[in-house]
Amino acid sequence: MSKVKTLGQFIIEKQSDFPFSKGELSRLLRDIGIASKIVNREVNKAGLADILGDAGEINIQGENVKKLDVFANEQFIAALSLGGECCAIASEENEDIIIVNNEMSKNAKYVVAMDPLDGSSNIDVNVSVGTIFSIYRRTSLSGPGTNEDFYQRGTEQVAAGYVIYGSSCMLVYTTGKGVNGFTLDPSIGEFCLSHPNMQTPKSAVTYSINEGNYVHFPLGVKKYIKYCQEEDDDTSRPYSSRYIGSGVADIHRNLIKGGIYIYPITSKSPKGKLRLLYECNPLAFIIEQAGGKACDGFNRIMELDMKELHQRTPLFIGSYDMVETASSFMAKYSSQDELIMTNPIA
Ligand code: AHG
Ligand code: MN
Ligand code: MN
Repeated sequence: MSKVKTLGQFIIEKQSDFPFSKGELSRLLRDIGIASKIVNREVNKAGLADILGDAGEINIQGENVKKLDVFANEQFIAALSLGGECCAIASEENEDIIIVNNEMSKNAKYVVAMDPLDGSSNIDVNVSVGTIFSIYRRTSLSGPGTNEDFYQRGTEQVAAGYVIYGSSCMLVYTTGKGVNGFTLDPSIGEFCLSHPNMQTPKSAVTYSINEGNYVHFPLGVKKYIKYCQEEDDDTSRPYSSRYIGSGVADIHRNLIKGGIYIYPITSKSPKGKLRLLYECNPLAFIIEQAGGKACDGFNRIMELDMKELHQRTPLFIGSYDMVETASSFMAKYSSQDELIMTNPIA
């Protein structure tokens, strides 16, 4: 008898955690799993098929859109629209929300926010990329989903997760009762429970930040980086620096091994680079559920107010003690005014 537990079996088993659930959330997670497998198939043949390079468009963040971004976006939108459990989708690749307005979804309870392909600058070079998703219960009563359905704090997330298309493909998600990781077994085409109840080390020795932007960092971040590089046997410093440039991959490694990932404000990205709705909030939910911490340097990520669909925020995320220490440097050397001054929506 095989002891393998598939994602589908696990989701059904966990449905009893939600006594009033009618299985909608389970079906939504199933739909995301299906789209992930299709995207993974395309990522795996990225060197073979003609899907490398730019699709010739600029997305609403002003970045080149790679063909695989477009493909992933389409796959997730299709799976979520056809699945019937989601009434609107917000995607990094679309300026406005996508209203799902078909017969099957007219009573759908949920909205989904996603970054369909995270780390897209790494597609061409065979380095891990990912998908991030975040699920909210709609606040509108019925009919098609609305913009307002997405203007909720991260604390209201019902579920969140990411898929990492790495040396193996993994799906990691939480519904607020711990974090579980599933590895795709390509021989049977199923995500199988491989990392039950994931916990991140409270403290660790890895820091992940694009140090090329050093001169543009707030003083608190500069001082923290210097602290990471100092010699101190008691705290195992100097720490190691690891930065892939795919947030999902950096944060996944740090989730397992421990570490801190920082994307602060810089003069190039005065509001921070990462997006609150479909990057920072879902990653924060997962990391908090795994025992870690996520803040913007001063405030808990999941308590930030959502004021714009594609709102950006600085992000400090990872092992609890490391994020606390980094925040203490921010409190000592930087001012929250730096964020407010440069961030008119903060
Ligand atoms: P995306 O590919 O969805 O635009 O996200 C990329 C993000 C994040 O994944 C990564 O950590 C960061 O941007 C890298 O930014 P820099 O190249 O500025 O370091
Ligand atoms: Mn991203
Ligand atoms: Mn992206």
